[in-house]
Amino acid sequence: MLLTIPVFANATEVASPNGNVKLKFWVDAKGRPMYEMSYKDRPVVLPSHLGLELAKDKHASKGYGEHDLLGGFSIAKEETTTFDDTWQPVWGESRNIRNHYVEYVATLMQQWKEPRVTADEGQRGMFEEQHQREIIIRFRVYDEGIGLRYEFPQQRELNYFLIQEERTEFRMAGDHTAWWLPGDYDSQEQETQQTKLSEIRGRLDQAVNWGNSSVAPFSPTGVQTSLQMKSDDGLYINIHEAACADYATMHLELVDAQTKAFTTELRGGSNDYTPNPKPSRCPLPEPFTFVSHLTPDATGLKGCMQTPCMTPWRTVMVSDDARDMLSSNLILNLNEPCKIEDTSWIHPTKYCGVWWEMIVGKSSWNYTDEFPSIQLDNIDWQKVKPNGRHAANNDKVKRYIDFAAKNGLDEVLVEGWNVGWEDWANMWKRDVFDFQTPYPDFDIKMLNDYAHSKGVKLLMHHETSSSTQNYERHIKEAFALMNHYGYDAVKTGYVGDMIPRGDHHYSQSMNNHYLYVVKEAAKHHIMVNAHEATRPTGLCRTYPNLVGNESARGTEYEAFGGSRPDHTCILPFTRLQGGPMDYTPGIFVTKLNTWSGNQSWARITLAGSLALYLTMYSPLQMAADLPEHYERFDDAFQFIRDVACDWDESIYLEAEPADYITVARKAKGTDNWFIGGKCDENGHEAVVKLDFLDKGRKYECTIYQDAPDAHYETNPQAYVITKKTVKAGQTLKIKEAPGGGFAVSLMAQ
Ligand code: NOJ
Ligand code: CA
Repeated sequence: MLLTIPVFANATEVASPNGNVKLKFWVDAKGRPMYEMSYKDRPVVLPSHLGLELAKDKHASKGYGEHDLLGGFSIAKEETTTFDDTWQPVWGESRNIRNHYVEYVATLMQQWKEPRVTADEGQRGMFEEQHQREIIIRFRVYDEGIGLRYEFPQQRELNYFLIQEERTEFRMAGDHTAWWLPGDYDSQEQETQQTKLSEIRGRLDQAVNWGNSSVAPFSPTGVQTSLQMKSDDGLYINIHEAACADYATMHLELVDAQTKAFTTELRGGSNDYTPNPKPSRCPLPEPFTFVSHLTPDATGLKGCMQTPCMTPWRTVMVSDDARDMLSSNLILNLNEPCKIEDTSWIHPTKYCGVWWEMIVGKSSWNYTDEFPSIQLDNIDWQKVKPNGRHAANNDKVKRYIDFAAKNGLDEVLVEGWNVGWEDWANMWKRDVFDFQTPYPDFDIKMLNDYAHSKGVKLLMHHETSSSTQNYERHIKEAFALMNHYGYDAVKTGYVGDMIPRGDHHYSQSMNNHYLYVVKEAAKHHIMVNAHEATRPTGLCRTYPNLVGNESARGTEYEAFGGSRPDHTCILPFTRLQGGPMDYTPGIFVTKLNTWSGNQSWARITLAGSLALYLTMYSPLQMAADLPEHYERFDDAFQFIRDVACDWDESIYLEAEPADYITVARKAKGTDNWFIGGKCDENGHEAVVKLDFLDKGRKYECTIYQDAPDAHYETNPQAYVITKKTVKAGQTLKIKEAPGGGFAVSLMAQ
């Protein structure tokens, strides 16, 4: 494709350290800030506008509360600097992370005149009044992409302001293939769609997960980030955001040939994407342009700001090699360094849990079936009739603790330990849990003491049912209780529509809630794994006690109808860009009797399940299946016992979105390596050159792979384990079955 870039006399060009990525910035004839981006002189983002539409503040005494930050700008100052630093994450895919970029900062001045109304001397006189505002647009140009953000210095005429919509554009250079989720203010648990950009509109309705307990799509062309794309000429392009704090989560609305107007906001609680009739003041860009679309709060507004403040970074990653999409640290690098001084209590964790048996309907979270509903203050739990199916009971939890201790797992998650599960979901019930009171058959002291005596910890569970006010009211006592009994990690959850009603899971106020929980937890030396919270944007660099999020369709969906076999070959390109996912892998017995009474099949082979411990990077890894299933396949379970979850080095060996991923990782503080390969429904032959091993050293190599006749549908449990001695320079060729994969451990001799 030819690069058709108009010549802008006043454009500033900035190149990345190796020159591969180039950025141009200028203001057009209407004073609108514009940028474009290229990779090895091929277009990535065609000329695109930047800016924000503001909402009128009813408290603003003067009209400029509504004066947009879209145009009328001139460049007041420009600065270009280079930065090169290497830092060490508390946990991660590698010991060292290099942060090397060229920064370009444009200070933009907006000046305009407005009639001033004066009431002096008893008569209303009209005078022209000069106004002036300043914003900063900061770009960081990396060898594998860019980050850009808006900054708002404190000033008299930009002090408090309300965001109607952010209008950051990303104009694509062609009808790329995209791997996308429908944009939704409340759910991220959809199957990924693979279509051309021009096909998004036709596919969106069927892509919505209407069955989720909280769902709010907003536009027939609205998609989520992180959005992975591939151009016809082989460029991999990814749009996401970094450091989303005190700001709403960004979606992208595609302007296509049929777009007549922007979809603006949707009032809370609606389950439909009816375009708001209120027109945007921002002109529509060319087709194939993505425009930022923020998650509204209960009032429909997108942001309440007080200067000095800034937006998150908007990121565009690019490469002609798909592996670079996975090894890039651009999003972590754009986040602030760690703000927690003493991080010694933060650790990678392998855990099992009293969990899967509830997901498949074998046991229950709730203790009784006696009442149509419950009120926490009005029940004497000692007198309640148990339903006989409550899993979080002393005997069962001890059995899981024994299993964890025997197999070197660090923690045991116990869900359903606390009162309130009888009517926990989707009831608009504010006081749903107190996070303090255990059910009568869960002896919290005895079980923690028992676990500790075996070198294991219990992992706390706080399902909030999205009643965030209730959670914030109880959080200090809840964390104090954890400290008292020796818990050091909590899995939180946000199932259902938000309470207070009308708010959305990814609004500015909710993003503030999630971060409040993480910061409060840090004060109590507690690690957080938040489910249903907003998709991560690298904040785990700044707050490394945020060790996990769900924020996508996890393994539980295997029991809710399943996910396509290529699902886990897409997530590392999309959901994992912002931070680790608590995917809860390791389901060995894939034929499932589910709580709906139906049967379901997890669409993965057993060897493929082992691969996920490598390909789905997380410092928190679950062995999700039932202990008795692991005991049945103890030779394969050996890999889960052995595998590390913190790394000195990671090398992506093979990758193609939705097809296959192969990665080798060196376990932190050791000379041992682990390799994982996962593929889609078509199978794959991985070719692994062992040139990363230490020369002249021998490694004991154990390969866990699909048997020749394995297949995710017909023969998922057919696997072969081979042992041999290998050394650097050798090549392993490993066949992966349809829906399968492999795992290798390489223990240095
Ligand atoms: C949804 C979570 O993803 C799942 O892991 C949890 O068990 C349930 N909510 C109940 O909190
Ligand atoms: Ca595929």
